[in-house]
Amino acid sequence: MEKPVAVHLLRHISLRQLQIFDAIARLGSFTRAAEEMFLTQPTVSMQIKKLEDGIGLPLFEQIGKQIYLTGAGKVLQEHTRQILDALANLEMEIADLQGLKTGMLRLAVVTTAKYFAPRALGKFCELYPGVDVALKVTNRERLLERMPQNLDDLYIIGRPPESEEFIFEPYLANPLVVLAPRTHPLAGQRDIEPAKLADYYFIMREAGSGTRMAVEDFFSQRGIKLKIRMELGSNEAIKHAIDAGLGISVLSRHTLALEGEDGRLTILDVKGFPILWQWCVGYNKGKRLSVVAKTFLEFLKTQGESIMRT
Ligand code: PGA
Repeated sequence: MEKPVAVHLLRHISLRQLQIFDAIARLGSFTRAAEEMFLTQPTVSMQIKKLEDGIGLPLFEQIGKQIYLTGAGKVLQEHTRQILDALANLEMEIADLQGLKTGMLRLAVVTTAKYFAPRALGKFCELYPGVDVALKVTNRERLLERMPQNLDDLYIIGRPPESEEFIFEPYLANPLVVLAPRTHPLAGQRDIEPAKLADYYFIMREAGSGTRMAVEDFFSQRGIKLKIRMELGSNEAIKHAIDAGLGISVLSRHTLALEGEDGRLTILDVKGFPILWQWCVGYNKGKRLSVVAKTFLEFLKTQGESIMRT
């Protein structure tokens, strides 16, 4: 009788070992993996030794204090993710058959979406209290680095990458506006020419930010050179810097979500603004979305607008 192909591995390695291996590969440390899994370090080392015996090749190598995956380790990491994902999906599909939406939602969003995403997650978790959420907030460039690594279920971004590998759908308008202090000489003026902004100091987001990309495109297309006074890595820091009179900037209108538009900053009426981006939600094409991720995706598409209004 023909034997199933994986019979050797089924006999010699366990899911628990794969889970431990995944934690070490993710965290880059046996100690941190042991802590995360509430195990002692000798247990972790012993399980990895057994896993290496089962696979027949070393999985990690240590250079100085740093641990690296070997070639076999990298192959195993990719397959381990698929196996653990499949198990997570199985758990969720069973929960779904039982009429429950439970499980983990791993969401990664660009920094500008941090004003919107917690609100959406709050409403979603009210509807599905059994859902646990891991939210990663980072800039556009780092988010795009995470995507091929299959670290998250869904991604929220202002302008999707031009790649066939990902599927993105727009769900909400994301207007980028020019912000200045209320006392600014241009405040209250109508139809300001974009070139006028070059007379004032400008505060720019850091390299790798999608907002910065939009600003650079807008002004370079019009041959306008901005007077950049400083670069800051967060929308909040930029709002404070504007308020302190250090310059003007362009940010998503959603960054005013908490204080509203009657706060200490004002939106300048500059021709060509707002730059109309769309919030898009997406995922890796090859990804089998979990029931929870699919439900959240639908939730954003149908409720995104109304969440932002409340
Ligand atoms: P970021 O976000 O400026 O935080 O990178 C912009 C975006 O992609 O919407």
